[in-house]
Amino acid sequence: MRRKQRILLYSILSIFIIENAFILFPYVRAFIFQYETSRVERGLRLAEKMGCFSCHGPRGTGGMPNPGSKDGEVPSLDGGTIMMYVKNDEEIVEYIRDGLPKRKRQDEEYYGRYQQQAIKMPAYGSFLSEKEIDYLVSFIKASNSMPEVDREVEEGENLVLRWGCTNCHGPRGGGGMKNPGSFKGYIPGWGGNDFRELVEDERELYSWIKEGRIERFEKNPLASFFMRRQAIKMPAFKNFFTEEEIQAMGKYILWLNRSGVSR
Ligand code: HEC
Ligand code: HEC
Repeated sequence: MRRKQRILLYSILSIFIIENAFILFPYVRAFIFQYETSRVERGLRLAEKMGCFSCHGPRGTGGMPNPGSKDGEVPSLDGGTIMMYVKNDEEIVEYIRDGLPKRKRQDEEYYGRYQQQAIKMPAYGSFLSEKEIDYLVSFIKASNSMPEVDREVEEGENLVLRWGCTNCHGPRGGGGMKNPGSFKGYIPGWGGNDFRELVEDERELYSWIKEGRIERFEKNPLASFFMRRQAIKMPAFKNFFTEEEIQAMGKYILWLNRSGVSR
């Protein structure tokens, strides 16, 4: 083969590979799409990486014994526990950065008892940047349903928590739980680009919850390929909830999406 022909052939081949790398290689996709995930999800990943769950239980759900402490356990990072420990966001930052908020360090009674407990909260200040602490705060707030939602969507939030939707979709639908074989490598959240791509209108929203799929994706060859192939699929819930319950969950998801609390 002449030199010019070879160069031409290689150019065509590399353009083909570069163009398709995106679709072909899950790692390339996972790398690109990690920037689409929410602050809540980044906080969850960081918490895993920083070992928070060794003490605070799997995904921060608590349960680790702590002899000598008031409750006998390391507190959980979810379900409203945080409200009993801090007065504001700054104190969450202080817990993570310094191990204990200033207010509690100066409270002789609290600090005296704190020093008696077997397990103490480490100071992470030298391991984390300010931005990373911020992600952790977002994760912790979402896991504790903070800030409070509007009255009219409370019912939807309770249902979503009770039925474990957030186990897959992340605290407050922050998304990002791993899903092998899926297009983006993770379970989509209820905000940002993911939601825009998956839900064009309310009809599609309720189709996802009831049927676990939507028509538009079934007709699209690429989307339906990934919808079938992915390890974890959206369950079809229509037989397990009343129409009112499904509507309540849908309203809550739309509220989350609009308010952006879990981004
Ligand atoms: C060595 C065990 C340990 C590790 C690891 C740990 N914590 Fe803690 N954490 C504690 C204990 C014990 C307390 C209770 C402090 C008290 O009594 O005031 C606590 C309290 C907290 C609180 C306030 C109470 C609550 O549960 O809401 C937050 C927030 C917190 N930790 C976040 C984190 C984060 C984020 C990480 C990881 C970056 C982390 N912790 C890692 C032991 C730990
Ligand atoms: C076992 C994990 C799992 C559970 C539990 C689950 N989902 Fe999903 N859900 C998924 C996956 C995976 C997708 C993406 C489906 C696809 O792309 O084919 C999805 C998609 C969706 C979508 C489409 C929009 C988007 O951005 O996510 C909505 C809305 C939704 N789920 C709501 C719910 C609700 C409400 C519940 C609880 C009643 C729930 N899901 C429980 C895995 C789950």
